[in-house]
Amino acid sequence: MGKFGVLLLAVVMGAGVHAGESDERIERSRELSQQLQQQLGAKLMAAMKAEGPVHAIDVCHLEAPLIGEQVSTAGEVEVRRTAVRYRNPANAPTQQQVAVMEQFAEQLKQDPSQVPETLVTLDNGEQHYMRAIVMQPQCAACHGHSVKEPVLQAIAEKYPNDQATGFKVGDLRGAFLVKWMSEE
Ligand code: HEC
Repeated sequence: MGKFGVLLLAVVMGAGVHAGESDERIERSRELSQQLQQQLGAKLMAAMKAEGPVHAIDVCHLEAPLIGEQVSTAGEVEVRRTAVRYRNPANAPTQQQVAVMEQFAEQLKQDPSQVPETLVTLDNGEQHYMRAIVMQPQCAACHGHSVKEPVLQAIAEKYPNDQATGFKVGDLRGAFLVKWMSEE
């Protein structure tokens, strides 16, 4: 993804959280999402090289939640991915997450050099960090405009309601989601 520019939208909106703590959370959340990105990316690209994209679909399906769990800390923080147009229904976003991603897409259009991120405080005291996932050339085999057979077929079998094709490089593909549990 090249250099990571930083762009903060609405930062702290809730009460009871000091700005310094939020800065720390943003920093930590960024690290966690980058860990998921790097580890999953490495697994995916190794699988693509060794056995091709059809096999790599299974690797993505199995490894994404596993690596997410590994970088999460039980009871404290949960790290995963979501998207407006998702492939796996388990990754479906909430209305609020959709709104954040729509904002991210807009920001990316205006300044493609910055990867949008934000930290939102919910009414229940939980804080959710989100960071844009930008479509790269190496994603096209499975998320691009002309996904080829037999990849298309393999995706259709596993994900009959897939919405995650038709993206072009630089588009917002989705977002990392880092959920911090409430401390109370
Ligand atoms: C080999 C095919 C393949 C490649 C290459 C691939 N993906 Fe995926 N992607 C998948 C599959 C399969 C899923 C669904 C995983 C699951 O079952 O949780 C997925 C899910 C996702 C999700 C989670 C939201 C959703 O739609 O369910 C995001 C975000 C995502 N991919 C982004 C990317 C990005 C960015 C790249 C390139 C760096 C990429 N993918 C490369 C196959 C691929």
